[in-house]
Amino acid sequence: MNNRILEYRRDFPLLSGADIAYLDNAATTQKPVSVLDAVRHYYEAENANPLRGVYELSEKATAAYENARAAVKNFIGAKSSDEIIFTSNASASINLAAYSYGLNFLKEGDEIVVSVMEHHSNFLPWKMVAEKTGAKLVKLCPGEDGYITPAQLDKVLTDKTKLVAVTQVSNVLGQVNDIKALAKRAHEVGAVILCDGAQSVPHMKVNVSDLDVDFLAFSGHKMLSPMGIGVLYGKRSCLKKMPPFFYGGEMIEIVHWDSVRYADIPHKFEAGTVNAGGAVGLNAAIEYIGKVGFDLIEEQERLLTDLAMDGLGAIEHVHIVGSPKKEDHKGIVTFTIDDVHPHDVAGILSSDGVCVRAGHHCAQPLMDYLGVRSTTRASFAFYNTPEEVERFLDSVSSVRKRMGY
Ligand code: ALA
Repeated sequence: MNNRILEYRRDFPLLSGADIAYLDNAATTQKPVSVLDAVRHYYEAENANPLRGVYELSEKATAAYENARAAVKNFIGAKSSDEIIFTSNASASINLAAYSYGLNFLKEGDEIVVSVMEHHSNFLPWKMVAEKTGAKLVKLCPGEDGYITPAQLDKVLTDKTKLVAVTQVSNVLGQVNDIKALAKRAHEVGAVILCDGAQSVPHMKVNVSDLDVDFLAFSGHKMLSPMGIGVLYGKRSCLKKMPPFFYGGEMIEIVHWDSVRYADIPHKFEAGTVNAGGAVGLNAAIEYIGKVGFDLIEEQERLLTDLAMDGLGAIEHVHIVGSPKKEDHKGIVTFTIDDVHPHDVAGILSSDGVCVRAGHHCAQPLMDYLGVRSTTRASFAFYNTPEEVERFLDSVSSVRKRMGY
């Protein structure tokens, strides 16, 4: 066992305080002490309403909040901090793009290409835009290898395509789509591309300038920070022309009864009191991830995924959903067991202290496409250990017997 991993694992109070194998990291991750301390410090020493007060404490709060924005900018390789909009989570980020960009720049006859692999968060907002504008929702299916490929995208792109919505890593299959190539194709027909980075940003280096995406959405809580903070990255050229989505305090320059001038980006999209504590936590999480490093994160998550894939593949009556190849799963392994409902699987695993997710994983169009109704999913973070995977596999091996088969 890698000693560095064991050391880092000690930074997570919940992991040392409970006898569980927490393998539901695609749903949310645990939080290290440095993140918890940063949030606590913010509320103990720097809390005031950011962006409003002219007194020192409010200026401290503003600095803490804006420093977090700069940290996110560096973390994802954006060109400028004002391309980083803080939201409450990835769903809110995609809704912001859909309501502000989609409803205002798409019209009847346009086409919105959405992959069938999407979480409902990157499907329903575009379905809403299609219904409200009269644009057509076009289904983008994976190729034979299970990936959303440029060749598959070429099959559905037309000169009417105005927006492509696709996930970088599937929350069900764990496959990593080649977003850079997809963005290039989308741009060739004049479309913008929104990438759902909820399952990629926490687990691999994502650089928006390199990928050349127009929008990237992700959540803080899946990457060690508190719940309630998320990010919408948008290219300046898109954000500048988009109208506000939420209206209220601190998103204006000047308001009269008869006229309003809105604030510039990013603040025009951040009406109301912001989640400064969450942003501070996200900043601390980014620092922590930087300390661990994506090399180690990816190495450990690869090891755990491979162990799980090998182990599950060797258990009779267990079927891995998606690709049978280990390398096609980035920290996510989804499976079914003959004759046992996934909720029963997860219940039995829970009685053995193993936390996994069961159900449709908020990806029902993908379930329909795959021809399965629901599945069980294990998802790993770098702080998980091979022993936890063994515990998971032992429990899975016992499921059918315990169900009376
Ligand atoms: N989107 C999260 C998941 O896939 C909640 O579990």
